[in-house]
Amino acid sequence: MSDPNTSVLFVCLGNICRSPLGEGIFAALAKERGLADDFHVDSAGTAAYHTGDPPDSRSVAVAAAHSVRLTGYARQVTPRDFEHFDVIVAMDRSNRRSLQRLRQRLERGQGGLADIVLMRDYDPGAHDPDVPDPYYGGQDGFERVYRILERACGGLLDELAGPGRD
Ligand code: 4NP
Repeated sequence: MSDPNTSVLFVCLGNICRSPLGEGIFAALAKERGLADDFHVDSAGTAAYHTGDPPDSRSVAVAAAHSVRLTGYARQVTPRDFEHFDVIVAMDRSNRRSLQRLRQRLERGQGGLADIVLMRDYDPGAHDPDVPDPYYGGQDGFERVYRILERACGGLLDELAGPGRD
């Protein structure tokens, strides 16, 4: 999968905590490796509760502490995302189930539909398959999510771009 323009959509429930962080961290790692132009990244939520909201201030704070800037506003996943993106990355198994249900309803177009993958399948330190939902906790949960996403996005980037190109 070393296509020069791979598009990756990060998806969680609300699109304000985990997926904007995943998007920002992946973009920053790609840039560090000189691969910024090889990837198009975005994020979305399976739910519409926070449509139009900026990323949660706790995600913005933990990202800023690592010099990662979060951009964009929350939006819900759409059927077109399955045609537009090559890979859709679910933050947890519940998100993955929601995405799989949506995908099953779509007709397979000529170009095929996005692959759905689980974020922590790319985390070499994973003890749990899910990126935990930090929404109802404190800042420490966001720091933990940051570390998980940093490892997992590194693993995903290795997979999509091939290791050893940095
Ligand atoms: P996220 O976190 O899915 O990582 O953006 C959540 C954000 C909002 C809610 C739940 C999780 N909520 O219930 O509003």
